[in-house]
Amino acid sequence: MTNQPAISIRNVTKTYAPRGKAPAKTALHGIDLDIPAGSLFALLGPNGAGKSTLINIMAGLVLKSTGSVSVWGTDIDEDPRRARASIGVVPQELNIDPFFTPHALLDLQAGLYGMPKADRKPLELLKALGLADKADSYARTLSGGMRRRLMVAKAMIHRPPILVLDEPTAGVDIDLRKQLWDYVRELNALGTTVLLTTHYLEEAEELCDRIAIITDGRLVAHDSKDALLSRLDGKELRVELTTAIESVPPKLAELGGEYLGPGKLLFRYRRSDSIVGRILAAIASEGLTVADLSTVEADLEDIFLQLTRAARAA
Ligand SMILES: Nc1ncnc2c1ncn2[C@@H]1O[C@H](COP(=O)(O)OP(=O)(O)OP(=O)(O)O)[C@@H](O)[C@H]1O
Ligand SMILES: [Mg+2]
Repeated sequence: MTNQPAISIRNVTKTYAPRGKAPAKTALHGIDLDIPAGSLFALLGPNGAGKSTLINIMAGLVLKSTGSVSVWGTDIDEDPRRARASIGVVPQELNIDPFFTPHALLDLQAGLYGMPKADRKPLELLKALGLADKADSYARTLSGGMRRRLMVAKAMIHRPPILVLDEPTAGVDIDLRKQLWDYVRELNALGTTVLLTTHYLEEAEELCDRIAIITDGRLVAHDSKDALLSRLDGKELRVELTTAIESVPPKLAELGGEYLGPGKLLFRYRRSDSIVGRILAAIASEGLTVADLSTVEADLEDIFLQLTRAARAA
């Protein structure tokens, strides 16, 4: 399994059959995607993009219409049981039997995967997720955030090599979210491949090393986080001069300087241009002095909007 991707998706489409007055809906159009083993991978996209559909196909919860998926080297059509055992999924919709205690629930789940009693470590897992003191309370008495963490425990009880989290931070408060992320990072550091969907773009930016963006059932970007970030062209440099000049001096106009107000200039440039040194030199050679300057960097949100718009226009 060293060089093989953790999950390999080839030309997967999904069309949901019409139901009642709802017409047939194609949620995925020919998705090709590899999730590298060991990565912390974010799947981003707006509501209805097809993220849950794709995740549920990998997990064997939704049947794809065409294409092939292999999970940890196992084709999901050839050996669904084995494929399913390699993946732990925390679904977007939480369904927990309210009359089980977390301890009993994890024990039951481990049993379903055929784990011998001696190998099960439900309490350890509950502790790692900050639920140790709830181990023997009824699940119905847990808060939403606690339930989500219990679902993570349930997904990990059989220690699958791949953990999939669909919108894991929905309804989880900031402290608990941090705790959840720490746990996810730790799992990943220990070798678990993690795939998550999130609407919190900063979170993907902070947490993940690879990012794929999906819109209207199509993959519009897939790259390392750094490469994706550097793909965005736009950077801005705002300069405030000590002199309240009222137009752009020629040498600065040549470098694309725009007039913002007395003594204030704006330069738009591409990240790869490394033009800032030349701008500062030109300011000096015009006999001007910088009072203040700031740059604006693109974040994932910008990239996301840019790519989504481009895909819609295409
Ligand atoms: N069981 C279903 N039957 C019919 N259509 C469905 C079904 N599940 C999802 N869809 C449709 O498929 C499309 C993709 O839905 P999906 O839930 O995969 O999106 P998503 O990216 O997970 O969205 P969200 O961010 O809101 O969770 C949507 O148009 C949705 O309405
Ligand atoms: Mg979803």
